Amino acid sequence: MTILVTGGAGFIGSNFILNWFEHSNEVIVNIDKLTYAGNLQTLLSLERHPQYHFVQADIKDSKLISRLLSQYRPRAVINFAAETHVDRSIHGPEDFIQTNIVGTFSLLECARNYWDELPVTDKKAFRFLQISTDEVYGSLLPEEPPFDESSRYTPNSPYAASKAASDHLLRAWHYTYGLPVLTTNCSNNYGPRQFPEKLIPLMILNALEGKPLPVYGDGLQIRDWLYVQDHCEALCKVLSAGQPGQNYNIGGGNEKTNLSVVQEVCAILDQIRPRSNGKSYHEQISFVTDRPGHDRRYAIDIGKMSGELDWQPRETFATGLRKTIQWYLDNNAWVQSVQNGSYRAWISTHYKDESLKGNQE
Ligand code: NAD
Ligand code: DAU
Repeated sequence: MTILVTGGAGFIGSNFILNWFEHSNEVIVNIDKLTYAGNLQTLLSLERHPQYHFVQADIKDSKLISRLLSQYRPRAVINFAAETHVDRSIHGPEDFIQTNIVGTFSLLECARNYWDELPVTDKKAFRFLQISTDEVYGSLLPEEPPFDESSRYTPNSPYAASKAASDHLLRAWHYTYGLPVLTTNCSNNYGPRQFPEKLIPLMILNALEGKPLPVYGDGLQIRDWLYVQDHCEALCKVLSAGQPGQNYNIGGGNEKTNLSVVQEVCAILDQIRPRSNGKSYHEQISFVTDRPGHDRRYAIDIGKMSGELDWQPRETFATGLRKTIQWYLDNNAWVQSVQNGSYRAWISTHYKDESLKGNQE
């Protein structure tokens, strides 16, 4: 049996693959374009694994994808491949449209053609799992209940709109063609191997390098944080027992303001890697210009995941954050390899005037 994974050299995909081989011998074919966010170093430990195959390719390359489907005959396709950073989608949305919408369309068509030709039992068992986001639902007011699967789609950023569009394609391919698709809408992940453009790894590495910790606006925006390992376990449950055509919301039950997350990072670092000058990392917190169209609050109702699929997150935020920080401290070679020229160019373009702004605490 074989699973075809796309975007497996990124943050969640790589954690998913590593997690998979801890409990399964099933073959994984990982198709990744290796954009700035994809890094083969992340999966170096699998280089000689007999059940693991890597192919560098764009999900839009339908000829190659069709060939790989015929060659490996997977029982499932799991689509992690995407452009994922909201700030980059604001600077330049084109790649988001191309990969998240056109790419998903192309992959769906390849999967549909492959699935159409499968023998009846294989056809029944086949699944196309789309990894989507809670950002498709837009922003919650403080008093509103968390998003559930019937919440209205109101995406606000180019990234969120591109993910919403791909969710709609999935829905249509199920209703129109009968393709057995599953869609998961997950909240903010954190954990090992996350590219340091995202809040938590950016703050860890900036803190260690003595740089400002750039908190957007008033820092009181709320995200619902989920440890990546818990997300991977949820995906395995959806893949094995989810109902085709259904969406599943996945979240951590950890609603936190960005400022409190950054403060927790500082407090843990103060304990395990104190600054040589005896001062706290809190001193590096710096309030900077807000993200345009910044969603104020996300929160996820996991009732369907826990009720139908018996899934609950296992990691607490306190333990997960400590493990994450320790991973970044222990994996300097990985950190160096991703902080390359293109990473530095992004940081200096995006935060160009911000390092000059004062600490408002
Ligand atoms: P990431 O940015 O770390 O990795 C994305 C991967 O996709 C990279 O390896 C990249 O090289 C690859 N990729 C990009 N464009 C491609 C293309 N055209 N063809 C093939 N490969 C391509 O992303 P992530 O954080 O691991 O997110 C994975 C998925 O989970 C995405 O679909 C994202 O929308 C979704 N998601 C992420 C989070 C989160 O907090 N990180 C939360 C909910 C949902
Ligand atoms: O909710 C799920 C989504 O979570 C995923 O779909 C996205 O792919 C993923 O990137 C993430 O989106 P966010 O925009 O919430 O994540 P990010 O880490 O970029 O930012 C988290 C919060 O922290 C957000 O409110 C913006 C804020 N922030 C972020 C950065 C990078 C800052 O205050 N300063 C920063 O420098």
